[in-house]
Amino acid sequence: QIYADSNEASAAVAREIAEIIRSKQLQGKPAVLGLATGSSPKKVYAELIRIHREERLSFYNVISFNLDEYYPMKPDALQSYMRFMKEQLFDHIDIPKANYFLPDGTLAPSQVAAFCQEYEQRIDELGGLDFQLLGIGRNGHIGFNEPGSHVNSKTRLMTLDLTTRIDAALDFGGLANVPKKAITLGINQVMKAKRVVLLAWGEHKAKIIHEAIEGPVTDRVPATYLQGHANVQFVLDESAASEL
Ligand code: GLP
Repeated sequence: QIYADSNEASAAVAREIAEIIRSKQLQGKPAVLGLATGSSPKKVYAELIRIHREERLSFYNVISFNLDEYYPMKPDALQSYMRFMKEQLFDHIDIPKANYFLPDGTLAPSQVAAFCQEYEQRIDELGGLDFQLLGIGRNGHIGFNEPGSHVNSKTRLMTLDLTTRIDAALDFGGLANVPKKAITLGINQVMKAKRVVLLAWGEHKAKIIHEAIEGPVTDRVPATYLQGHANVQFVLDESAASEL
């Protein structure tokens, strides 16, 4: 789906998420959302906050799982995804504190594997993700599933690509400060989501969007796995779609 600009596109995506939340409320069920960080989803979250305020959409029945977190990372650090999610969304809506989950960047190395397994299990016990929001890295990563990730990969500790660390360097005040690892939801759980929406804005995403949609499915570009998902939509602005 190509929109004139990211405002219009983000509003449409927020409306879709709001609809899922409302319809789950009518069924008396939780809405299980997979959420993303990065600059791409910011306007979607801003629009959800507006809908919460102006249309009284409640998030009491939302249970959310974020895709990823740097490792190691303290939750209150400037670059933490926990902090990002609170500032961009959670602190402005009525989601109960016990209802949102992010990978934990403060675990001891020996605790990571068990944590990842529990993270997945919690999602599975809720019947999987109703909706997964994604951005895309310049190298085609989704979440922090870097090139080389298997289609059946599970939630795990990932070594970050140099490209990914370079792209994050500004946020960390230099490459040397960017963590070398992150915990990411696996491709397998993303592929099990009932609906997947990937956002991309701007000319700098045009090349990787072309590869992700029109290129061969390959572990070198993990976003190409989405070609095999039965209910996926790439939501783009005109610049990101310019090489299609
Ligand atoms: C980071 C995140 C990804 C995100 C990507 C793109 O690597 N872990 O989940 O999709 O950045 O970020 P942006 O939306 O700022 O382009």
